[in-house]
Amino acid sequence: MRGIILSGGSGTRLRPLTKITSKQLLPIYHRPMIYYPLNTLVKAGIKEILIIVSPERAGDYLNLLGSGKDFGVKFTYEIQDKPEGLAQAFIIGSNFIDNEDVAMILGDNIFEDDFSEEIKNFRGGAKIFAKEVPDPERFGVVKFDEQKRAEKIVEKPKEYLSNYAVTGMYIYDKRVVEVAKNLKPSDRGELEITDLNNWYLNHGELEVAMVQGEWLDAGTFDSLLRAQQIAKEKLADKMVI
Ligand code: DAU
Repeated sequence: MRGIILSGGSGTRLRPLTKITSKQLLPIYHRPMIYYPLNTLVKAGIKEILIIVSPERAGDYLNLLGSGKDFGVKFTYEIQDKPEGLAQAFIIGSNFIDNEDVAMILGDNIFEDDFSEEIKNFRGGAKIFAKEVPDPERFGVVKFDEQKRAEKIVEKPKEYLSNYAVTGMYIYDKRVVEVAKNLKPSDRGELEITDLNNWYLNHGELEVAMVQGEWLDAGTFDSLLRAQQIAKEKLADKMVI
């Protein structure tokens, strides 16, 4: 299994904090934010990790993270010229993925869960992770039928669908590269990961598991503050990096 950390974007929602640095390098308690998703992949046993960054911040990432030797893994870096969507990561990363399964985590997503078993037991298709939240309109949202099977996923639904947000950890088989290449940009001009997930769902090959522990998307001032607190109380002493 290969790993990708998507850590580009312009961080406009966190200005001026992100005027001179990348959102995913802001401090979360005792570590830069990206250490948390990196820790999740390292803990899950992933050894080859692609880090996708914006051109303006690429140097900062190299200085901070280097080759990966310090973490017992190997890093590859790619530039995303413009933030044209989460699913673009699989086109940018196609050489790196090289017909293997791949787990992608967003650089601003902080998880308490350990995904080792999910990664070890992955046997094809796609697997995503949902969490019940009070503010589902901020996320991709999954609706379940009476048998608790995923019925559909909608990106930032305007009308209430359910309280289950799709979190920023995704596992796909090698077909993900071709599926991503065939996506059309959405109305906001992005290749949507939700469209990718719906492709697997419509083929009957999407599994949705529940996140058990804490999960945060640290992309707003309030979630950033909460992330600091949770990092101190629950995550810091369990980190392996
Ligand atoms: O956090 C989970 C959510 O992430 C999911 O529920 C949504 O389905 C998914 O679309 C995404 O929603 P966001 O509104 O959080 O996406 P955002 O545009 O903020 O991007 C998430 C992270 O990915 C952010 O740290 C920046 C980075 N990014 C984003 C885009 C669009 C990139 O590196 N490149 C990009 O092209």
